[in-house]
Amino acid sequence: MSPITEEETVASLRARLARTERQAAARQRQLERYAADLREVFKQERAHAQELRRSYRATVRALSNAVEARDAYTGKHAERVAAYGMELARATGVEVADSPQIEFGFLLHDVGKVGVPDAILFKSSALTEAEYALVRRHPVIGSEILRDVDFLGEGKLVVRHHHERWDGQGYPDGLHGEAIPLAARVFAVADALDALTTDRPYRPASTFAVAREVIRAGSGTQFDPAVVAAYEEIPDERLALLRGALG
Ligand SMILES: [Fe+2]
Repeated sequence: MSPITEEETVASLRARLARTERQAAARQRQLERYAADLREVFKQERAHAQELRRSYRATVRALSNAVEARDAYTGKHAERVAAYGMELARATGVEVADSPQIEFGFLLHDVGKVGVPDAILFKSSALTEAEYALVRRHPVIGSEILRDVDFLGEGKLVVRHHHERWDGQGYPDGLHGEAIPLAARVFAVADALDALTTDRPYRPASTFAVAREVIRAGSGTQFDPAVVAAYEEIPDERLALLRGALG
């Protein structure tokens, strides 16, 4: 057997190197294919999640519109409250700001009114005590209706607690101060803002400036002072813009 020459050793090493390089290149191509597949899966997942969110939102809006359709004069109240509420949540600088669940809660806050007869809800004379007690049940009826709708999450707390007051004099649970879920405290200011700046059969709409005075006066009694302070950061022009966008 002839001894292995230096050339043969070099050739063998070169061949091994070439083989290793080919294998590395194949692995590289395989990894790139995996990465491309993953990117595609992520893209599809994201599109799917967006589609799901759109469907949720459309469903919530449909339900909210169905509730509002009964009440001619509040037209788009829920949409405006939701817009003011989300703006306020952002100004309050809280984690609720970008939560679709909270927005859904804003939109559906009065869904429990479906359980209150028209004869009571639209009665033009004063309500009896029993009738008023029934009207005051709408947050509980609402949260019962939505109890098993998991995707509403914290939004359901808005529905139950949207008539609580900072001083504990609200309903249905008479919660006090920070015991009231933050989103419901934000909602209370947004709701008052829209109620004040919308025409009612018994009074014309206030200007945003007048509404601001009224809400300021309710800070610490009806409203969370921190939420009122955040509201003070939002100029009336911005609120008018939000309202205008909803037509
Ligand atoms: Fe309500």
